[in-house]
Amino acid sequence: MIETQRVLVLGTRTFAVEVADMASDIPGVVVEGFVENLDRDRAGATLEGLPIYWVDDVARLARTHTAVCALSTTFRRRFTGEVEALGMRFATLVHPTARVSRTAVLGEGSIVNAGAILAAHARLGRHVIVNRGALVGHHTMLGDHVTMGPGANIGGCCEVGESTYIGIGAVILDQLTIGAHAIVGAASLVTRAVPDRVQVMGVPARVTRERVDGR
Ligand SMILES: CC(C)(COP(=O)(O)OP(=O)(O)OC[C@H]1O[C@@H](n2cnc3c(N)ncnc32)[C@H](O)[C@@H]1OP(=O)(O)O)[C@@H](O)C(=O)NCCC(=O)NCCS
Repeated sequence: MIETQRVLVLGTRTFAVEVADMASDIPGVVVEGFVENLDRDRAGATLEGLPIYWVDDVARLARTHTAVCALSTTFRRRFTGEVEALGMRFATLVHPTARVSRTAVLGEGSIVNAGAILAAHARLGRHVIVNRGALVGHHTMLGDHVTMGPGANIGGCCEVGESTYIGIGAVILDQLTIGAHAIVGAASLVTRAVPDRVQVMGVPARVTRERVDGR
């Protein structure tokens, strides 16, 4: 018998609805509410028929529930830290249509959405998002809080630093290092290493902004 996992989704915007929807396809996972940490007025209302809790009020649910953060921006770091400090543990959600190698390693709080593929020995840090149909090559490592947009494709043996954002449909060639807190624009073709804290875009990708802090 599959054990039931009661999950709270951190976030109350459209991506939170998407994460709750994908989670509803995972056997044993039951989403029981959303959590807000910025706009107090949203707490107490409902979203998709489920309660919205104020962040400070979820400590009492820490024994019975796990959480997953559905913010695709760098605010995810702050929100997961806040909730962890309340004693909450995190769920790792993998959609049933994703293909995850048995040799891949997933950090807690990570989300692997429908149709994504994690190849052999891929490694995800904590609170990583691999969105719909994104492809992670073999022996590639994504640091904590990395976001891969839908359909992004990163080759084998790459390393992506923490809190970096990879836009929808971007392609990153194999064996490259992508720095931390960087942004790879949608549909870019990355052919060279990307330093920390820069934004790159285009085909081939070029630096278009410096001193960024992810997206
Ligand atoms: C890279 C990105 C962050 C740049 O944002 P920005 O610095 O605010 O850039 P702007 O929107 O001001 O656009 C500046 C210029 O770059 C162009 N541009 C923007 N993104 C681009 C991209 N990914 N590739 C090529 N050119 C791009 C714009 O058309 C604009 O050109 P113009 O000056 O000739 O009009 C953003 O465009 C992007 O790619 N975001 C990712 C979106 C995504 O993946 N969403 C997934 C949702 S699930």
